[in-house]
Amino acid sequence: MIAALNLPSFLWLWKIAAWSMGLSLCAYGLLGVTGAWLLVSRSAHQPRPWWLRPLHYGIGGTMVGLVLLLLAIGIVGTLGHFGSLGHSAHLPVGLLVVGLTLLSAWSATQISPERPWARSLHLGTNLVLLVGFICVSLTGWTVVQKYLP
Ligand code: HEM
Ligand code: HEM
Repeated sequence: MIAALNLPSFLWLWKIAAWSMGLSLCAYGLLGVTGAWLLVSRSAHQPRPWWLRPLHYGIGGTMVGLVLLLLAIGIVGTLGHFGSLGHSAHLPVGLLVVGLTLLSAWSATQISPERPWARSLHLGTNLVLLVGFICVSLTGWTVVQKYLP
């Protein structure tokens, strides 16, 4: 039991990272679907269900929380294991993903008929974020291999 706890020392932490990442990707997919619905209902001047916008907002907030959790896990785990940061491309890619996520959430709060640029910014950031998510998963999975027995 004790050996299982400290042998692959930080494996449990990276398992939480993998699960949070899976949830983040699910959240991203749901945001894509509910976001597309928001966009179609607006451009076609159709009524949207009252719960659609709060749902999109709620899932968005959850995704921001998950990404910040991943950042915290990554920094705490890396400092705990190496005592320093910056061991691979995973660090810059991770920071980029956190930045894009915060930019997306901020741009969402700016969306209004008076600020059409906020919509484009929100959509643009989210497309780049998809690429970022894929890169951070690949680089994260690569560094996890170092911890596997
Ligand atoms: C980071 C978390 C996110 C938050 C807090 C958020 C929030 C919002 C808000 C408040 C709106 C405006 C809704 C309205 O017009 O009434 C919106 C629109 C939209 N969002 Fe998000 N969102 C997030 C992430 C995403 C993601 C990841 C995607 C795509 C995968 C996405 C796609 C869209 C689309 C397509 C629209 C409609 C834009 C339009 O009407 O032109 N959102 N979002
Ligand atoms: C939004 C997603 C993520 C963010 C923001 C993030 C962020 C970070 C950061 C900032 C570090 C410190 C890197 C360094 O200083 O070299 C780190 C380390 C690490 N992350 Fe992530 N991460 C994410 C996703 C993942 C995923 C999906 C995995 C794999 C399951 C993962 C596994 C790791 C591992 C194993 C390390 C230790 C680095 C090493 O040994 O070189 N991360 N993460």
